[in-house]
Amino acid sequence: MGWCIECHNKASIDLASSEYYEEMHDRMKDDVRGNEELRRILEDDKITVKEMGGWECAKCHY
Ligand code: HEC
Ligand code: HEC
Repeated sequence: MGWCIECHNKASIDLASSEYYEEMHDRMKDDVRGNEELRRILEDDKITVKEMGGWECAKCHY
């Protein structure tokens, strides 16, 4: 499990890989003013799997 978590902490999502991600990213950029959490996520100019919820237990455990 550490192996999964480790990579999700570093790997970023390829936002151009699907229209769904692209649209979501555009919406995030519109919302970013006044939203502290979103600003923190977008600060390093990439969105990791963790930042998209890849550390939530229920993503892998049902
Ligand atoms: C080498 C890197 C890497 C490893 C190791 C890895 N993942 Fe991932 N995982 C990713 C990336 C990158 C994505 C996002 C893919 C995308 O949607 O663009 C992802 C997405 C996911 C998602 C979908 C999350 C969501 O928000 O819908 C699940 C579930 C998942 N991984 C489970 C696992 C499990 C279980 C393991 C370990 C057995 C694992 N991953 C190991 C890189 C990794
Ligand atoms: C990215 C996928 C992923 C996420 C997120 C994840 N797990 Fe896991 N987990 C696994 C996999 C795969 C295994 C089985 C392989 C192993 O034990 O390494 C596992 C095994 C476990 C086990 C039994 C094995 C052990 O090490 O005792 C427990 C307990 C557990 N997870 C708890 C959690 C909790 C609590 C969370 C949330 C904080 C969580 N997991 C989040 C993938 C994940």
